[in-house]
Amino acid sequence: MTSFDLGTLDPGDAYKLITGVVQPRPIAWVSTLSSSGRRNLAPFSFFTIASRAPVMLFLSIGETSRPGHGQKDTLSNVLATGELVVNIVSEPLLESMVRSSAEVPAEIDEFDYAGVEAAACDVVAPPRVAQARVALECRTEETRRWGSDTGVLARVLRMHTADGIVDERFHIDSAALRPVARLAGATYSVEQVMIPSPPVPDWDPVA
Ligand SMILES: Cc1cc2nc3c(=O)[nH]c(=O)nc-3n(C[C@H](O)[C@H](O)[C@H](O)COP(=O)(O)O)c2cc1C
Repeated sequence: MTSFDLGTLDPGDAYKLITGVVQPRPIAWVSTLSSSGRRNLAPFSFFTIASRAPVMLFLSIGETSRPGHGQKDTLSNVLATGELVVNIVSEPLLESMVRSSAEVPAEIDEFDYAGVEAAACDVVAPPRVAQARVALECRTEETRRWGSDTGVLARVLRMHTADGIVDERFHIDSAALRPVARLAGATYSVEQVMIPSPPVPDWDPVA
């Protein structure tokens, strides 16, 4: 075994290690509006479910790599408006999602830049990505800085699903959704090898 002391390792190397082992990661493709109404879109793979009732999501936003630019626009917008939409990236949207990850100036409309259409939401002001097969309208519950990143806890208010994605028993058809996940570095996965779960045995305290 090789062991690493993450307390003393260079942060860039620690980032490579941790993002290489915590994978595949789902991607929140987040749409927000600035306080002046500019549309912003950016992907975040530090993303998971934080609570099931109420349904809350968690995502983590790091510092911008552009010196002197301050916060990423998504964080500025979330702090200013408290609203965001988490769009799920299906395979046909991979290229647009990657394009939207460019750190472009806040004045640029990132729906136009990424080449995607916007659709109005029901209860939040930011638009969703019209082509996304699933979109989740969210309102911020809490934001908190942890280390180099800021965590955003967001309550899901509405879920939009394209036809054929969910059945009457609320089961999502993964093959129809084909969600893109981030792997190590700049690599992605879409094909899921689905294997049935082995049976979970009942716990028998006597045995
Ligand atoms: C697939 C993917 C996942 C990403 N995940 C994160 C993440 O979890 N946290 C983060 O701070 N940046 C992440 N990034 C980088 C941001 O998307 C990038 O910094 C973006 O320009 C931020 O945009 P904004 O300034 O408009 O908010 C990711 C990029 C890609 C391509």
